Amino acid sequence: MKRMIVSGGNGFLGSNLVSRALKDGMEVTVVDDMSTSKGINVPGSVKFIKEKIEDFKTDERFDFVVHLAARPSPEDYVDHPIDTILSNSAGTKNMLDIALNSKGVFMYTSSSEVYGEASVIPTPENYYGYVNPNGIRSCYDEGKRFSEALTMAYHREFRLDTRIQRPFNVYGPGIRADGEYGRVIPRFIVRALKDEDIVVHGDGKQKRSFLYIEDWLDLTWKFLTLPGMGGEVINIGCAEEVTVYELAEMIKRMTGSRSRIIFEKARENDPRRRAADTRKAENMFGWKPAVSLEDGLKRTIEWFMGRIR
Ligand SMILES: NC(=O)c1ccc[n+]([C@@H]2O[C@H](COP(=O)([O-])OP(=O)(O)OC[C@H]3O[C@@H](n4cnc5c(N)ncnc54)[C@H](O)[C@@H]3O)[C@@H](O)[C@H]2O)c1
Repeated sequence: MKRMIVSGGNGFLGSNLVSRALKDGMEVTVVDDMSTSKGINVPGSVKFIKEKIEDFKTDERFDFVVHLAARPSPEDYVDHPIDTILSNSAGTKNMLDIALNSKGVFMYTSSSEVYGEASVIPTPENYYGYVNPNGIRSCYDEGKRFSEALTMAYHREFRLDTRIQRPFNVYGPGIRADGEYGRVIPRFIVRALKDEDIVVHGDGKQKRSFLYIEDWLDLTWKFLTLPGMGGEVINIGCAEEVTVYELAEMIKRMTGSRSRIIFEKARENDPRRRAADTRKAENMFGWKPAVSLEDGLKRTIEWFMGRIR
């Protein structure tokens, strides 16, 4: 039986990956400090260790070592910058050491944030990034960039089979939505369902692209489990853009909400545009996002409706 360890496995992406691994007959261990996830989101058959990944060590061996633990919401990481950078520096080293000891496959979940305020949109994997190294978001961006560098160092020095994925905005049922910590889609949906003001930061003309969770999982699974991917880096996202204001309007229309759309101050170092060039993943795996934004929003809204109204 194959064994997998997932840091941050109790979170949105992690719990979906864990379910997929269980379906495939794997034995799964999750290490998660539950800092950004509520309740246990994984089945009882999973070995659950509640601990900060930066403090976690083990001699156990795993076929797949997946590092996802992080505080991914800007409000959250701005409030907890040290935690944020440690999970993506010391935490990454701990997970890499487990993979090395296991001679397993290591997958690092980086982020489109490594590109910063990109001047090439949609952004391909070989774009180096334009990031403020000590700005308010640097605890996250630079943690991700450092972790990519460390991952490649293990690959080059120890020939460890490492894979780096850079998700863009992934959304879907189960995504965290509480207060300002939730990301833009769940935040807008919850506000709309409660007929509360939908708050757009900045002028709303900033553009984003969104990927539905099933599409993320499909590509992630292929990338993680197929042989011959050692040292590869791929974007996992979508090239289609929508402005944040259009997104707010879409969600308002689809929920039949009476919410007003209001504007507040733009967030510091918030990129104007973000979209993935996904041609590498398309060429390597014949993959394309299958779920449209309209469809994905519909399914996500239905999930939230069951919990809010
Ligand atoms: N969802 C996206 O759109 C997206 C986009 C880009 C990158 N990512 C990356 O994917 C990963 C997972 O994101 P998600 O959307 O599932 O977020 P999430 O908040 O739902 O999950 C993160 C999980 O990590 C745990 N965690 C946080 N810090 C920890 C620490 N120090 N030690 C142990 N556990 C810790 C949290 O409790 C949570 O269960 C993160 O690394 C994030 O940066 C996600």
